[in-house]
Order: sequence, then C-alpha cells, then structure tokens
Amino acid sequence: MALLRTREPETLYSAASCSVSLTAVSKQYGVKEAIFPLNLSIDAGERVAFLGPSGGGKTTLLRLLSGQLETSTGTVCLCDRDLSTMPTGRQVSQLVGMIHQQFDLIPNLSALQNTLAGQLGEWSLIKSLVSLVWPMNRDIGLSALTRVGVEGIAYQRAGSLSGGEQQRVAIARLLVQDPQVILADEPVSSLDPARAGEVLQLLVGIAEEAGKTLIASMHSVELAREHFSRLIGLRNGAVIFDLPSHEVTEDMLHDLYNLQGLRSET
Ligand SMILES: Nc1ncnc2c1ncn2[C@@H]1O[C@H](COP(=O)(O)OP(=O)(O)OP(=O)(O)O)[C@@H](O)[C@H]1O
Ligand SMILES: [Mg+2]
Repeated sequence: MALLRTREPETLYSAASCSVSLTAVSKQYGVKEAIFPLNLSIDAGERVAFLGPSGGGKTTLLRLLSGQLETSTGTVCLCDRDLSTMPTGRQVSQLVGMIHQQFDLIPNLSALQNTLAGQLGEWSLIKSLVSLVWPMNRDIGLSALTRVGVEGIAYQRAGSLSGGEQQRVAIARLLVQDPQVILADEPVSSLDPARAGEVLQLLVGIAEEAGKTLIASMHSVELAREHFSRLIGLRNGAVIFDLPSHEVTEDMLHDLYNLQGLRSET
C-alpha cells in the first residue's frame, strides 16, 4: 500500500476509513497512574475532542494512540489492527499521524522541506538524506502548502514563520504523510482566537473531505463544541463524560474542570 507514490500532486490525500479502539488500556509512568484502565471506541471518520484540566491525560492518550508510547495494560487497535504488533515506521505512518503542541518543525529547513518530511516514514535513509539537500516530490509539497494557504512561504526558513504559518506547515506535512487517523495535541493553543478558528476549520475540513478520523485535545471548550461532534472529558486519567457535543452541559463542564467551588462563590 504505497499511497504516496501513486498519488498525483492534485490528489493530495487518499480517501480513508479507519476506526480506533482501546480495550482495557492504562498507562503508568513509574508509580504515577496517568491513565486508568479504559475502553474507548471511535468510528471511522468521527471527529472527537479530548477536554479536561491540565494533567488529565489528554496528551498521554494521544501518544498511546499514535504508538509513541506503549500501554501499561490493554490494546490499542487502529483499523482493527493491534498497534503493538505493527512494525514501526512506514506501516504505522500510513495509519496514524500526529500534530504536536509545538509543531516539531525543523527551524533551519524551509517550509517546503519540512512539509516533505511527511514522506520520511516511507523512504530509505539515503533518500531522506538526499532530500534534505534537494527536495524530492516538490510538487506534492507545494500542493500541500497551497491547500493550507501558505504557498508563498515555501522557501522560507521554518524558524522564521509566525505561529499560525508554522501550524499550517505542520498540517501540510500531515497531508503529505496522508495517514488514515489524524491526532492533534492542542493544535491551536498558541494562536489568537480568529487564527485558531481558521486553522481548526482547515484541519476539520481536510478530515471531512477524505473521511479521515480526527482526534484532538483541546483547551477551548467553545472551539471543541463548534468543530467536533463528540467530546470526551478526561480528569485524573479517567473518562468523566463521553457524549455527542450537543449533549454536554455547562454543569458537566464545570464538574470536569472542578469549578463547583468557584461557581457557588459567584
Ligand atoms: N514522561 C512522564 N513521566 C512522568 N509523568 C508524566 C510523564 N508524562 C506525563 N506525566 C504525567 O501524567 C499525567 C498526565 O499528563 P498529560 O501530559 O497526559 O496531561 P494533559 O491532559 O495533556 O495535560 P495538559 O493539558 O497540561 O497538556 C500528568 O500528571 C503528568 O505529570
Ligand atoms: Mg497535554
């Protein structure tokens, strides 16, 4: 399944349909229980946001889903395949891709080179190294940058881009990687509210167009409600609620963030 090599520049991503399931998954860091055993099932093409106070386990859960972290107990399945039994690298990068809170761009490389890094999971070491000097599949990279609206900065150093531009380049890199499941850890937390809405709309639009599953952690309840169809509240490593967005009430959110005391004082 070599999606990238068969894609034309104008067909940036493949149509995808991939469910996600966690069975009795827990995670401990030493003695710290970051995720208590939980079961979770996310349908192909769903848009799910993790909400909750700092330290609740959102990033940990996303990293378990991406295969970057091993579970302490339980099984993570993507497209009905057990993540722990898959060889790392290409197979996993075709299934799942993650945008991190800090975007992880390489500051001394251009936006285009960073975008093309989305292909590295598929390439040999030699091809990857050559591409650092002479970017390969330039057209795909430029199409991805055009799709996210920043083609004008293709040859600018990533380190000199604004936060919003960096975030768009990170999304372009994900387009080039073309995973079936997109994970995003606080994808818009460093942007002003107007830019945050735009970038989120872009990410959600791309996921919808290709039927990809999108799972993000969000600090803004308002943006999460607006863009995601299902909200999962996490606190102290446990699921507090798991509901369609329109069923999540203000009371549930107050409870999630432990604001009962504050509410009664006001
Ligand atoms: N590498 C680690 N070693 C030890 N403890 C960790 C490690 N990573 C996370 N933790 C702990 O696990 C818990 C969950 O952390 P996590 O980063 O998943 O929370 P979060 O919900 O993403 O928080 P935030 O909203 O601040 O990003 C926290 O108590 C954190 O201190
Ligand atoms: Mg986090």
